[in-house]
Amino acid sequence: MHKLAQQLNEAIERDTPHVYNMLSDLGRKMYFPKEGILSQSAEAKAKATKFNATIGIALENGQPMHLSVIADHLSAFSPKDIFDYAPPAGKPELRSAWRKKLLEENPSLRDKSFGTPIVTNALTHGLSIVADLFVNPGDAVIIPDKNWENYELNFGTRRGAEMVYYPLYNEQQKFNAAGLREAILAQRPKGKAIVLLNFPNNPTGYTPGVEEGKQIVEAIRAGAEAGIDIVAVTDDAYFFLFFEDSMKESLFGSLCNLHPRVLAVKVDGATKEEFVWGFRVGFITYASESEATLQALEQKTMGLIRATISSGAHPSQTFVLHALKSPDFPAQKMEKFHIMKGRANRVKQLLDSGRYRDAWDYYPFNSGYFMCLKLKKVNAETLREHLLNKYGIGTIALGETDLRVAFSCIEEEHLQELFDTIYQGAREVEQESRE
Ligand SMILES: Cc1ncc(COP(=O)(O)O)c(C=O)c1O
Repeated sequence: MHKLAQQLNEAIERDTPHVYNMLSDLGRKMYFPKEGILSQSAEAKAKATKFNATIGIALENGQPMHLSVIADHLSAFSPKDIFDYAPPAGKPELRSAWRKKLLEENPSLRDKSFGTPIVTNALTHGLSIVADLFVNPGDAVIIPDKNWENYELNFGTRRGAEMVYYPLYNEQQKFNAAGLREAILAQRPKGKAIVLLNFPNNPTGYTPGVEEGKQIVEAIRAGAEAGIDIVAVTDDAYFFLFFEDSMKESLFGSLCNLHPRVLAVKVDGATKEEFVWGFRVGFITYASESEATLQALEQKTMGLIRATISSGAHPSQTFVLHALKSPDFPAQKMEKFHIMKGRANRVKQLLDSGRYRDAWDYYPFNSGYFMCLKLKKVNAETLREHLLNKYGIGTIALGETDLRVAFSCIEEEHLQELFDTIYQGAREVEQESRE
């Protein structure tokens, strides 16, 4: 093992032995090279006043060399904020701006100890860093039965985790904290678990209420008290799109500094929140009361970034930073929030009108981009194909009964036509199956 990795491990183990236990084999080996090209180049940036011939970019007239066919369309920004490499952990100013945003939007974080967000190539990459640092083959990754399908590929297929499922809803159609607790406590023999929490949930659009949120935290605390080391990850992809009376903060705030056996990790980003899906700007943030552990986890994360993508795209970091600093940003964001909320409300109004009662129920939703129908009489995949082929309507079939509808993509005035057509389609499929 590299000497630097050993030093990081010693620092983590000294202050936070349970966090050390959570690290995967790869996580233990990981470090950020101190003596390589990046550090020599950083040193030269500060001291090489005559010629700086260190890093693999090209300079001209004291700026990164560039082509006008590209630069002319990006002239609002300085070439150094577009063409040069961003640092592996991301633009420092963007990292601080995101931290400030986290504190503003999550008052429960204000008395907690957590690190500076590290820029990732959007949320998927942040989740893959969690998987690389903390998952060994056979480790349990606990997710609800309704989940984003990519978790399985990332944690299960890629890292060999054992995926453990619990039903998302209980009989009262609330979050099934008892199911989560049971799934966690079942990991006693392993002594370790990774718990993934995603609210607003993909695919259902559900965010628990404040009381349910407390039960989630208690389930994790119970696991820790039973001797299980828990990496508690919040995937806050759809943060801020809370349309009703649910929690309006990330659970990360309540999980920070909860118990020595709990490591809270927040994965979030601009992707869905700021409507910049293709920009690929996300963040990973760790919580620990130990500054040394925060530093070591940051170094290990930077090592993974250096080894995989080297650094994230610079232009999109510049664009997101510019937005965060803009005085118009909050108002523009609220405007889009109200459009999305209007769509969610309209969907609920249509569904609650009773006009589709014989064809489906729907899973409780109050946030995010999606909602999910629970079909009563027809198979979800059969209906999906029928809607696509006969009506040119695209939906997502999940399992036997569930059909996910992204109301985020449909203008409010078209929602009735959309759901009326899905209903019509369901009746046709039902009739065909009888014939
Ligand atoms: C729950 C959830 N997490 C993460 C992501 C991935 O986000 P990104 O595009 O930023 O990688 C998605 C995207 O669909 C998602 O639904």
